[in-house]
Amino acid sequence: MANRYRTHNCSEAGRHIGRGISVAGWVNRRRDHGGLIFIDLRDRSGLLQVVFNPQVTAEAHRIATEMRPEYVVRITGDVARRPAGTENPGIPTGEVELIAREAEILNASRPMPFPMSDESGIDESVRLKYRYLDLRRPQMQQNMMLRHRVIKFIRDFLDARGFIEIETPILLKSTPEGARDYLVPSRLYPGKFYALPQSPQQLKQLLMVSGFEKYYQIARCFRDEDQRADRQPEFTQLDLEMSFVDEENVLDLMEELFTSLMAELKPEIRIVKPFPRLSYHEVIERFGTDKPDLRFGLELADISDIVADSEFGVFRTAIAGGGIVKGFAAPGCADYSRKQQAELVEFARARGGKGLVSMAIEGSLDDLTLDKVHSPVTRFFTIDQVREMVKRLHAGPGDLLLFAADKAEVVNTVLSQLRLEMANRLGLTDPNLMVFAFIQDHPLMEWNQEGNRWDSMHHPFTAPYDEDIPLLDTDPGRVRARHYDFVCNGYELSSGSIRIHDSRIQEKIFSLLGYSDEEIRERFGHLLEALEFGAPPHGGIAPGIDRLVMLLAGEDNIREVIAFPKTKSATDLMTNAPDAVSEDQLRELHLRLRAH
Ligand code: AMO
Ligand code: AMP
Repeated sequence: MANRYRTHNCSEAGRHIGRGISVAGWVNRRRDHGGLIFIDLRDRSGLLQVVFNPQVTAEAHRIATEMRPEYVVRITGDVARRPAGTENPGIPTGEVELIAREAEILNASRPMPFPMSDESGIDESVRLKYRYLDLRRPQMQQNMMLRHRVIKFIRDFLDARGFIEIETPILLKSTPEGARDYLVPSRLYPGKFYALPQSPQQLKQLLMVSGFEKYYQIARCFRDEDQRADRQPEFTQLDLEMSFVDEENVLDLMEELFTSLMAELKPEIRIVKPFPRLSYHEVIERFGTDKPDLRFGLELADISDIVADSEFGVFRTAIAGGGIVKGFAAPGCADYSRKQQAELVEFARARGGKGLVSMAIEGSLDDLTLDKVHSPVTRFFTIDQVREMVKRLHAGPGDLLLFAADKAEVVNTVLSQLRLEMANRLGLTDPNLMVFAFIQDHPLMEWNQEGNRWDSMHHPFTAPYDEDIPLLDTDPGRVRARHYDFVCNGYELSSGSIRIHDSRIQEKIFSLLGYSDEEIRERFGHLLEALEFGAPPHGGIAPGIDRLVMLLAGEDNIREVIAFPKTKSATDLMTNAPDAVSEDQLRELHLRLRAH
């Protein structure tokens, strides 16, 4: 729409050849060819080449000599087809240019701290300090637009299915999701604090008690925990809850949402339908992790039974000590040099393993002899044992078998990461494939050795299977949760569950988790009470928006899809938060700083 600054966007110029238009934006690049000055003008829609010819207008040409990168300018001129041979197929407006008649500098710019063109390798701390400039870069603009479209798609999809979006408070009481709370001191109530929500978990359950039946919210969550590439202190969830549903209903809704979202926003990326549904125990067994990357095989197999009585001390001792031996076959890696194999051993050690055994297989199963098995430890095994291992790992000639022995947890940690490493080396992590999958039947609780109590695997509101409820008294570790995780390409995208809607069971879970009666009343009294007023059966899920957009954008860090993220050490380099506050503010909040 025309206004005082512009009649068109840069990208529209191609449709107006021969006509006069006005455009406004930033000087992306300026080339002075003595006579002619060329400017690539950039606005949100893209680039347009502008030509200043002193023969056409001396005044505009003079103004163009003053233009510098990132100056904000307005230009009026006539759209012309570029002379034959000067077209630029690299940009959408590459066939045309704007012959300037008038120009105006709306604002100048200091030299940029980094180039605006899409070059990687800019130091991230500089990008974060000048985030408003970093966001000007086309890649970041695209990421933000993608994020907008994802959220808009989700809202439209859920609205069409009868969900309503309800906002819930940020200043509230602690809701445990396994992280530390961010606290806000109260001015009016000395010594008391609000906690920022780790998620709206309890509130969405209360909204089910209120009878809304289908709730969602694009919700901000706050967690004080160690940062990683896929973690931020504040992040965004699609928080969702439904009444009168079982697992299938929630998972079907998610499958439909994500299938249609992919078709609409990323049709070029393949997905696997129906989404695989796997049990927790199965994925730990086959991939060593509860968030497996299912784009490729390289599945793990347990060979403990084959090698328990072998001559190889490392394996025998690990098994005798209650551990296991697992491995997988890396296809075509039998020719790995000694140095490459040593690298893999280092990789395993860096992740908590004690070492790594590799075996290069030269022959096929039928004609396999020990002299075709190349490994420093071949001599400790019989040919029958090696054959069994090869069979179990579905290995073939040219494969490199990789084994780790230790406690199950260590073996799974090491091998799940080594599996990803080998997949990357072998080019198996196809960027144009996203395999969404549901993981179900997690244990409800795991034993916390240090705390001498049970911890929720998910959060304390997750329902146990009805038939497992008696086990709460006898063998809590074996109780299965009505929990589901939603994973994609090695990332946990969301967690959710069917919730407890019976206050007695909820109370029992709290006490198994080590809360005293008084703590239960203080921290969760409102929820327990609510469950006594006709709470419907309900369940939900909460996909992480940042992680989802990161995957869709092909980025490997969620900071790339968050407008103003924090650093790895939870600081904001642009505003310098967190920061000291004045003595007056502290006094008002009834706080005194302790000397360290
Ligand atoms: P959970 O704690 O598993 O479940 O979180 C759900 C999803 O939120 C995303 N996520 C994060 N993203 C970025 N930075 C973080 N620090 C971070 N922490 C979590 C992940 C994760 O899968 N209330 C429950 C959901 C429910 O039961 O409905 C919850 O918050 O993608
Ligand atoms: P060592 O007995 O430490 O000399 O190790 C002999 C071989 O076994 C080396 O190749 C180690 O990398 C490997 N190794 C040692 N401990 C383990 C383990 N827990 N799991 C797998 N391989 C191991």
